[in-house]
Amino acid sequence: MAAGSAGRTSKIWRDGELIPWEDANIHVMSHVVHYGSCVFEGIRCYDTPSGPAVFRLQDHVRRLHDSCRIYRMPMQHGVEALAQACLDTVAANDVRSCYLRPVAIRTGEQMGVYPIDVPVETFIIAWKWGNYLGDDAMTNGVDVCVSSWRRSAPDTFPALAKAGGNYLNSQLSKVEARLDRYVEGIMLDSFGFIAEGSGENLFLVRDGVLYTSGLSSGILNGITRDSVIRIAEDLGYEVREQTLPREMLYISDEMFFSGTAAELTPIRSVDRIQVGTGKPGPITLAIQDQFMGIATGRIEDRYGWITPVAAAVEAER
Ligand SMILES: Cc1ncc(COP(=O)(O)O)c(C=O)c1O
Repeated sequence: MAAGSAGRTSKIWRDGELIPWEDANIHVMSHVVHYGSCVFEGIRCYDTPSGPAVFRLQDHVRRLHDSCRIYRMPMQHGVEALAQACLDTVAANDVRSCYLRPVAIRTGEQMGVYPIDVPVETFIIAWKWGNYLGDDAMTNGVDVCVSSWRRSAPDTFPALAKAGGNYLNSQLSKVEARLDRYVEGIMLDSFGFIAEGSGENLFLVRDGVLYTSGLSSGILNGITRDSVIRIAEDLGYEVREQTLPREMLYISDEMFFSGTAAELTPIRSVDRIQVGTGKPGPITLAIQDQFMGIATGRIEDRYGWITPVAAAVEAER
């Protein structure tokens, strides 16, 4: 088994069929290999007292559809069908929890950039994945830096599309950060305002108010970000979405990443400047507790965010 394959499962959904992991292949001439033409999602399924349950499934599938529209990529499966396919993929792999990766890929065997008429194939992969930024990241926080690589300027790569090609930019930032012994890099937008991490949105806390960059700062419209905003407001905190100067990173009381893979990961330093006390702060912990509690079924799902797999798969039969 190849290095890094510890998360693999046994079945992959491919355009309506669950096929063996080993058979989920594409040709080297596929358009995506040469031109990065794919859009994808990352969705978590949590182990809850009523069995595996998928977090904000409809919202993720809707964003996949949005990404397809932006790239004029025909998606043959509707939102309901894809959502059901995600649930079927969890059930077929018999896992309690996992990370789901739906991906729509331009395949075909056609040379040249022009993508229209190149076939699109859709896959859904279930991957067993712990916290993305490290085992103790959620409790102790992570050390990060400001990246020398910026998010793409408006009118270059559409940041609201979760497209494979965008992640070349993320890779540059991530590798730079890791080589410099940080866990993650924070990228600024093309104007020098705070954007986001290579695969996470960012929240700052100062004087009890939460701040996060707006959608025009080259960020992905994160579903965890939206969950954080709703939880924070319901807990009575003010949340401001606005352009944020870089130096806010050095004077915040608390800071954390939000993302499906990273969940709610506290940040304890930026460019070796300590954030607050250097420990996860009380507002971060309160929101993290609510978020994880709802996702894992420990706290009542007052938002209708979780879809239990067994009930949905049973109802389809
Ligand atoms: C660049 C980027 N920003 C933000 C996020 C967080 O988005 P979400 O909370 O929807 O997973 C992700 C992860 O998908 C990402 O890749």
